[in-house]
Amino acid sequence: MRQNLFGNQGFSVSVLGLGAGEIGDGSIPEDHVGHLLNLAVDSGINLVDTAKGYGLSEERIGRHLSWRRKDYILSTKVGYGIPGHADWSFGCITEGIETALRLMKTDVIDIVHLHSCPVEVLERGEAIDALERAKHDGKIKVAAYSGENDALDWCLKSGRFGGLQSSINVFDQDSIQRVIPKATANGIGYIAKRPVGNAPWRFADQPNGHYSETYWHRMKTMELDFGADWQSVALRFTAFHSGISSCIVGTTNLNHLKLNVEIIEHGPLPSDVVDHIRNCWQKHQQGWDGQV
Ligand SMILES: NC(=O)c1ccc[n+]([C@@H]2O[C@H](COP(=O)([O-])OP(=O)(O)OC[C@H]3O[C@@H](n4cnc5c(N)ncnc54)[C@H](OP(=O)(O)O)[C@@H]3O)[C@@H](O)[C@H]2O)c1
Repeated sequence: MRQNLFGNQGFSVSVLGLGAGEIGDGSIPEDHVGHLLNLAVDSGINLVDTAKGYGLSEERIGRHLSWRRKDYILSTKVGYGIPGHADWSFGCITEGIETALRLMKTDVIDIVHLHSCPVEVLERGEAIDALERAKHDGKIKVAAYSGENDALDWCLKSGRFGGLQSSINVFDQDSIQRVIPKATANGIGYIAKRPVGNAPWRFADQPNGHYSETYWHRMKTMELDFGADWQSVALRFTAFHSGISSCIVGTTNLNHLKLNVEIIEHGPLPSDVVDHIRNCWQKHQQGWDGQV
């Protein structure tokens, strides 16, 4: 699978990555998760993105994938949930990284994000200091931030992050112009999260309470309908957008994973389709911000 340099951070990532949020769900059988993770890497996916907050995800990556650690770039997120440490404190970040290293059975994590903390936390500085110390100590390779809007802007401006992650999809285009070009110019690797917008076209009626609910409304407002081609159009729109290093689709379905890999092989969308989607956004968006 085609790979992109992760900014100027010294390694490459596959255009399609694996969002490992959903595999943290304990009701999904262990052997299924093992099969999915290894199928992803066997298919050429070399970026696996997880977080402290994704249930069993980090532990399962360690259990099922660490035997082939050289085959994938590992990305996680920290900042909370460490007993004895206040969330976002220096100790919480440092211990969070140690915990992730242990759970994922590795000596170094390639990309570690602060997981959606607000600007006030960033301004205090200690969370970033802790990431930088971990980088200095060789425990992580890239200090990164995952989040949206004013906090994302703050991180870009600070010059202290080698990687950024934000929601980029047909229904969430806010950072495409405002953030990505400057990130590219500064050698920052960029991961697109929620890259197919949680596939809202699967729902005929408003999906109350589902993660895709906001995007479902935006889809209707934008008056877009790609029928049976939705997955292909949505995925290629995000995956091949200039400045994006990788897009991390979440799935627990083996067939969906295989389909996504096939879709990527078709390459970028025709430019008139991209322009149409960009124009629909410009025309219909009503101050829509990035969705965490
Ligand atoms: N704040 C943060 O840092 C943050 C927030 C959100 C997400 N993330 C990261 O981004 C990753 C992806 O986000 P996401 O999972 O919320 O959004 P997403 O990748 O845009 O959408 C995932 C949804 O799309 C469906 N899907 C995937 N491939 C499909 C296919 N070929 N056909 C039909 N449906 C398909 C999946 O269902 P099936 O399981 O049925 O395939 C799943 O419900 C997460 O796993 C996580 O790593 C980070």
